Amino acid sequence: MKLGRLNHIGVATPSIAESIIFYRDVMGATHIHEPFDLPEQGVKVCFVDTPGADGAPNGTQIELVEPLPGNTSITGFLEKNPAGGQHHLCYEVPDIHAAKAEFEGQGKRVLGEPRIGAHGTLIFFLHPKDMGGVLTEIMETPKGDH
Ligand code: CO
Repeated sequence: MKLGRLNHIGVATPSIAESIIFYRDVMGATHIHEPFDLPEQGVKVCFVDTPGADGAPNGTQIELVEPLPGNTSITGFLEKNPAGGQHHLCYEVPDIHAAKAEFEGQGKRVLGEPRIGAHGTLIFFLHPKDMGGVLTEIMETPKGDH
């Protein structure tokens, strides 16, 4: 397994609109992207960029995740954590299928087949019980990104 960049931290929220206000007014975020629906995953998402030392986005983001109607996993998470909370970490890898084979070779449970994620590249999730308690998203690095 070749560990890549930490792409984003997924944060579940009951209201992206209210979370945007928090990240803007409390955390000082200046690069907040337009929220959009990801119906295949049953969620609405919104990316908040974090800056590097030069003030420009450094590539790592907060992914705000709000359930769409009918979503069960994020809705269940919010039932346990009504204010929202840290939901998953997402690391980039150069080759999603190679990464899946390597994790499976180590007995880690991959949740479903690789599918298109919020950045338009293939992603999969790993079961938190196999990952030190952390729901882990693996994402193929967008082509031409680095
Ligand atoms: Co994510």
